[in-house]
Amino acid sequence: SVITWDMESATKAGYPHFMLKEINEQPQAISDTLLRRIDKNNNLILDDIRLDEDEIQKIKDIYIVACGTAYNAGLIGKYIIENLANLRVRVDIASEFRYNKQFINENTLVILVSQSGETADTLAAQKLAKTKGCRILSITNVVGSSVARNSDDVFYTLAGPEIAVASTKAYTTMLVAFYMIGVELAKLKQEISIEDYHNIVEKLKKLPQKVKETLSVEKKCIEIAEKIKNSKSAFYIGRGLDDSVGKEGALKLKEISYIYTESFAAGELKHGTIALIEKDTPVIAVVTQDKLLDKTMSNIQEVKARGAYTIIITDKHIEDVKNYADDVIQIPEVYDMFSSILAVIPAQFIAYYTSIKKGNDVDKPRNLAKSVTVE
Ligand code: AGP
Repeated sequence: SVITWDMESATKAGYPHFMLKEINEQPQAISDTLLRRIDKNNNLILDDIRLDEDEIQKIKDIYIVACGTAYNAGLIGKYIIENLANLRVRVDIASEFRYNKQFINENTLVILVSQSGETADTLAAQKLAKTKGCRILSITNVVGSSVARNSDDVFYTLAGPEIAVASTKAYTTMLVAFYMIGVELAKLKQEISIEDYHNIVEKLKKLPQKVKETLSVEKKCIEIAEKIKNSKSAFYIGRGLDDSVGKEGALKLKEISYIYTESFAAGELKHGTIALIEKDTPVIAVVTQDKLLDKTMSNIQEVKARGAYTIIITDKHIEDVKNYADDVIQIPEVYDMFSSILAVIPAQFIAYYTSIKKGNDVDKPRNLAKSVTVE
C-alpha cells in the first residue's frame, strides 16, 4: 500500500503553512538523516547500502534519474560524486530517461531520487533500469514506497512527512544523502585518504547547526519578496554548484508565486539570455564557489549595467559583491562543496513570502500535486 501523508491529520505546529514549518524543520531533518549514520570515530554507517570495494569496482557508470526538485538535487549529487569519488555521473530527467539512447547495463549504478517514491515517471525509469540489469539505489523519504521496494539499496531521508507541494526539507536531506554517498564511494574507491574521509565527515556533522543559523536570513527575504512580488519575471544565475542551486531556487519561485523564473549558468547570459534583462528585472546570483568568484562577478556586473535589481546570496564574498548588489543575503561559511544546502534556504524563503504576498495558496499551488502518480 502506498504510504501517503494525510494533509489534515498532519499538523502545522503553529506555523501558518506547512511550507514554512518544513523550511524551519530542516535543521532537525538534516540532523536525523545525518547523525544516526555517523559513528563515534567519524565513520559513515550506510547500512542501507551494501556497496563494497568489489561491487564498486564493477560500477563503470552512474545515472541519477529523477523529476523536479529531486532532479535538481541530482545535479548537486553529480557534482559531489564526480569530484569526490572520481566517477562519471549522468543526470537524466526521469520522463526523458526512457526515450534517450541507453548505455546502461549490469555495470551501471542507477540512483533514483524521489521524495514520495511514487512518481510515475521515476517508477517507469526504474522498471527499464531493472530490465537492463542495472544496480538500483534509491533515495526516498517514504519507507516502503514503490521505488524503495524495487531497489537493490535504499537510502532513506528521514525528513518526516513533507506536506507542502513545494519541496524543501526533502531536497536538503536529499543533498545530505548525496554528500554521504559521495564520501563513502570516494573511500571505497580509495580516491581520498582515510584522514580526509574523517575530516569531511566532521564537516558534515556541522551542517545541522549551520542550517539553523541560516534560517536567520528570513527577515531579509521578506523584504526582498516585497520588492519582487509584482515582477513579471525573475532570474537566478550562478556557476557550478551555484547554478544547480539556482535551478532549485527558480523552481520554488515559479511553482508557488507563479512569477516566470529562469535559472541560467552565469556564463550563458552573453549567449542570448541577457537580452531578457530590463530595468529592475530581479536577478538573484548565488555566489559561494571560490574558484568561480571572479567570473560570476563579471556576469553580475553585466546584468547590473543593464539595470537589473541584483540580489546576491553569498557566504564569504561580501566585500567582493557588495558594490554590485542591491541586496546581499549572507549565509554562514561552510565547506565549499556543501554550501548548496545553505544557499537554497534564502531561495525557499523568497519563494514562500513572494507567494504569500501575492495571495496564493502556498501549500497547494494551482495545477500541482504533491506526488505525480501519472505520466
Ligand atoms: C518540487 O517542489 C515539486 N513538488 C515537484 O517538482 C517534485 O519535486 C517532483 O514532482 C518529484 O516528486 P518526488 O520527489 O516525490 O518524485
